[in-house]
Amino acid sequence: MKLTTDFLIIGTGIAGLSYALKVADKGRVMLVTKRQIDFTATDLAQGGIAAVSDLDGDFESHVSDTMVAGVDLPHRDIVEMTVRMGPQIINDLIDWGVQFSRNAQNEYDMTREGGHSERRIFHAKDATGHEIERALVAAVRAHPNINIYENHIAVDLITHAKLEKKSDRENRCLGAYILDIAQHEVLTVGARFTVLATGGAGKVYLYTCNPDVATGDGVAMAWRAGAAVANMEFMQFHPTTLYHPNAKSFLISEAVRGEGAVLRRRDGTAFMADQHPLKDLAPRDIVARAIDHQMKKYGDDCVFLDMTHQDANYIRERFPTIYETCLSYGIDMTKEPLPVVPAAHYLCGGVQVDSYGESGIRDLFVIGESACTGLHGANRLASNSLLEGIVFASRAAEKSLQRFSTSDGGFHTIAPWDSGTATNSDEEVIVAHNWDEIRRCMWNYVGIVRSNKRLNRALSRIRLIRREIQEYYWDFYITSDLIELRNIATLAELIIKSALQRKESRGLHFTLDYPERDDQNGLVDTVIPGSRLSITQKTRTDTEDDHGRIA
Ligand code: SIN
Repeated sequence: MKLTTDFLIIGTGIAGLSYALKVADKGRVMLVTKRQIDFTATDLAQGGIAAVSDLDGDFESHVSDTMVAGVDLPHRDIVEMTVRMGPQIINDLIDWGVQFSRNAQNEYDMTREGGHSERRIFHAKDATGHEIERALVAAVRAHPNINIYENHIAVDLITHAKLEKKSDRENRCLGAYILDIAQHEVLTVGARFTVLATGGAGKVYLYTCNPDVATGDGVAMAWRAGAAVANMEFMQFHPTTLYHPNAKSFLISEAVRGEGAVLRRRDGTAFMADQHPLKDLAPRDIVARAIDHQMKKYGDDCVFLDMTHQDANYIRERFPTIYETCLSYGIDMTKEPLPVVPAAHYLCGGVQVDSYGESGIRDLFVIGESACTGLHGANRLASNSLLEGIVFASRAAEKSLQRFSTSDGGFHTIAPWDSGTATNSDEEVIVAHNWDEIRRCMWNYVGIVRSNKRLNRALSRIRLIRREIQEYYWDFYITSDLIELRNIATLAELIIKSALQRKESRGLHFTLDYPERDDQNGLVDTVIPGSRLSITQKTRTDTEDDHGRIA
């Protein structure tokens, strides 16, 4: 089936939904999501949204905390622009119906997390993302111009360069091929503007607190289509996810430490005091590395997060989601410390975009966690992600609406999807096996502490797996599992190659071979150019080489 739309948005977290709401009065919007609309990382975000609350607030300290957490790699102009948009963004959210928690004086209750020198985080108890998602979903559902396609997964972007065999400079995005998962049909969607808001890639790692949908689809598609990616080595590991055999890496918000919880070893020793002046509220990379070190040194499976000194009623009232969830696993956090371990949480790199969220491919915007805007540098400051998602959604909407108002209104002719000679798979075990192998390999060799030897080992394995996936991809009908597998394999290789390029330790990238930071050579983004041509159809005439390029 062929469809056309003015704005094609892939992903329904804070970035995708807020972009949709910003443009929907002007044109037709197609909003695509792999599962249900609210199955997103935004919905799981606990901590909050960092923002200076009024126009007279202390922007400079938010800028400075962001620069320090990002180890001087964030782009100062982007940080300043993002932070200064804070008050406007909070007003937008309130206008869309988001209800942030208030204190006894009926003022907004600001919380604190790691790396913040002051309380500047708006929150809705410990379920901020859920409250934001609830309000935005209600608003998009109510808008007559927004059509929602749930259970649809994007396969690849359609680009001008591919169609016309033109050079990179003329590369322009014309839409995407999208698999209707229930009907097993690939839709050909022509769009004036395509927006990737597909979130992160925690599923590249064995342990992650991300939802199952976080398979880096937007980054992989954009890179295959020719867009450069940047800073992929900076995968953020959240220091504290619940360690329990039945809990699938349930996040324990950093706001718990923001409100006084302390990290301890099994014998009760608090270990952050001698690591950093901010102790348990040090930036996340430092805390995660300290936990990793303690676990390895003492041979422990986890460390403990202790809040038992706080009033039990306060804990239950302030952290109801965390309290109830832990209780359901038999742990009462008001009475005993929580067992915790780090897990993959946030991709600080992504598709390289300009200050309006536009990628190197014209009319292709990438916003939210899939983008590398320059805000996070080597380590994202806690609760800056929801802020970035909505700031760049607004900027991308502004630029696309400007261009939309002067466009001629025509659509390119694009070829429908062609399955070539693909048949039904008779060996799905390959897909399941490769999923597992990639995630284990990345966890063991490309985790919190790296080395050249481990990275090279990982690279040769991932390359073999990618080759196997490619063969499988051409031979059989695509499924969402296969599309995601292909994407996590691509992300794995991009992460490893970026890590090998950075010959220093900075923020989230720590390597035993270069344990110090190198300000002489290290203060630049790690950029990997996009694969030159996009493979947009399963035609047997195109074959990908190792790097995803058409050979
Ligand atoms: C948390 O609540 O700890 C997560 C917040 C974030 O990742 O910014």
